[in-house]
Amino acid sequence: MKKNFLKVISVILCFAVLSTSFMFMAFAEDAAENAPFRISVAMNGDASSSRGFCWYTKANTESKVEIYGADGQLVNATVDYEDVIEWEGNFCHQAVVSGLEAGKTYSYRVGNGTTFSELGEFVTDNGDSKFEFIAIADVQAGNEENFLKGAKVLDAAFETMPGAEFVVNLGDFTDDSTNEEWDWYDSSFRKANASTTLVPIAGNHDGLGVEYWFNNMFCLDTSESVQVKDGVNYSFDYGNAHIAVLNTNDLLATSNAQLKWLKNDMNSTDKDWKIVFMHKSPYSLGKDAKWPDALYLQESLAKTLDKCDVDIVMSGHDHMYLRTKALKNNKVADDGTVYVLAGTAGAKRYEVRSFLADHYLDTDFIDAMTVQKHGYANYWDGEDWDQSKDTNIGGCFNCVSVDGGNLTVTAYILADEPDANGNPVITAIDTYTLTKETGKNVATFEGDNTTSEFEYILGVVPSFIRLAIYAFTNWLPKFLIMLPDMLDVVINEGTF
Ligand SMILES: [Fe+2]
Repeated sequence: MKKNFLKVISVILCFAVLSTSFMFMAFAEDAAENAPFRISVAMNGDASSSRGFCWYTKANTESKVEIYGADGQLVNATVDYEDVIEWEGNFCHQAVVSGLEAGKTYSYRVGNGTTFSELGEFVTDNGDSKFEFIAIADVQAGNEENFLKGAKVLDAAFETMPGAEFVVNLGDFTDDSTNEEWDWYDSSFRKANASTTLVPIAGNHDGLGVEYWFNNMFCLDTSESVQVKDGVNYSFDYGNAHIAVLNTNDLLATSNAQLKWLKNDMNSTDKDWKIVFMHKSPYSLGKDAKWPDALYLQESLAKTLDKCDVDIVMSGHDHMYLRTKALKNNKVADDGTVYVLAGTAGAKRYEVRSFLADHYLDTDFIDAMTVQKHGYANYWDGEDWDQSKDTNIGGCFNCVSVDGGNLTVTAYILADEPDANGNPVITAIDTYTLTKETGKNVATFEGDNTTSEFEYILGVVPSFIRLAIYAFTNWLPKFLIMLPDMLDVVINEGTF
C-alpha cells in the first residue's frame, strides 16, 4: 500500500516537473520569438514632442511602446501604431509617439505588452539655439568585424561629444542590405542606438535589389516624401535650424519632384540655419564621383540649393573626407553653401582619383581634404595631395555644434590601431565655424508641399530626360577626356 502510494507520488512529481519544464521552454521560446530587435528611435515630425519607433520580432505579435519620464513614471503619451507587416521573414513594427514635452530626457521600451526590450533613452529638442549632434557615413560593412569597427567610431564620437542630442547616419548602413547584415548592424550599434535619436539617410546600398527596405527599417515622417521605394525625403526643425534629408536614390540622384520639394521646404522656414543631409556627394575626388549621377547633382541639386540659401550640406558615398569652400553658382562665394563629404566611419576607404581634379571638381573649391587610406594621399595641404599621415588611417566622425549664429563642425579620425597603452587615438583633422547674423531668414513659401503619386509619375520621364541630356552633353565629354587616366589607374592599381 505504502509502495503504491510512493509510486503515485513519484509519478505526480515527475509529471509536475516535466509540465513545468515544458511550460518554461514554451515560455522561453515564446519570449525569444517575441523579443524585439533592430530597435530604432528616429526623428519624426516635431523634434520637441514626437519620435518614430521601429523594431522587429520573429513572430507576428502585438506592438507596444512605453515611455517613461526621468522620475521613472509611465508617461501618458499618444502612440499611433502602424499595422505589423511581414518583411523578409520577420515582422516589422512601427509607431509614432507624440505629445512629449520639449527638452526632456525620456526612457522607453518596446515589445508586445508581455515581452519587452531593454530600456533605451532619448532627449527632445528644447527649442533653444544651442545644440550638438554627431554625423557619420558609409559604415557599409559586409561582415560583423567591420560593423563592430564602425560602432567603435560612433562610440568615440560620443566620448568626444557626450552632449550630442542626435546622430545623423548619412547612409550605406550595410553593404548588401540583407537580413544578416542588418542584424550585424543592430547587434554592433545597439548600445549607441539605444541612447539617442537617429536621423537616417538612405544610401544606395540600403535596399539593394529590394524596394522599401529603408522605409521598413526606420519610422520616418513620409508625409512629404516624393516616394518611399528606395529612400525617404523628410525635414524637421531642431533648435534654430531647419534640416532637410534627401533621398539621392530617387531616379539615380534627385527627381524634379524632390528638387521642387526641397526648394519649397527650405523656403518655408525662417530658422537661422538651413542644413541638408544626403548620401551622394556633388563635390568629391573619390572613385564614385566619376559617374553621371554625382556630376548631375552639381547641375541639379546645387542649383536648387543656390536658390534657397542653404548653409551646409553633409553627405557621404565617396568614403573620404572633403570640405569645399562656400560655393554658389559653381563658384566660390561668401554667401554660398559649404559641402562636406563626411568621411567614412567604415573600413572601406577610397583613394583620390586625381584625374577628376579640374574636370569634375576645381581644386580651388577644396578647403580641406583627408583620405583615410594608407598608401594614397592622406590630406590636402592647399597645393598638393601627395602626402602621407599615418594618424589619418581610421574611421571618421563629425561633431557639429550650433550656438546661435555660430555653427562649428569638427571632423575626427579614430585610428585603426590604439596607442601603446591600448587607448584609442582620436585626431581632429578639420574644424571650421560658419557665422551668421540670426533672425534674418524669412519664409517665402507657404502651403502644401506634398507630391501626389500621379504628379511624381508624370515627372519621371522629364527627370530622366534632364539627366540624360546632362549626361551626354556635360558628363560624357569629360569622361572620355579622363578615360586614358582611368585606364592607367586600372592597369597600375587594379581598381576602377
Ligand atoms: Fe554609397
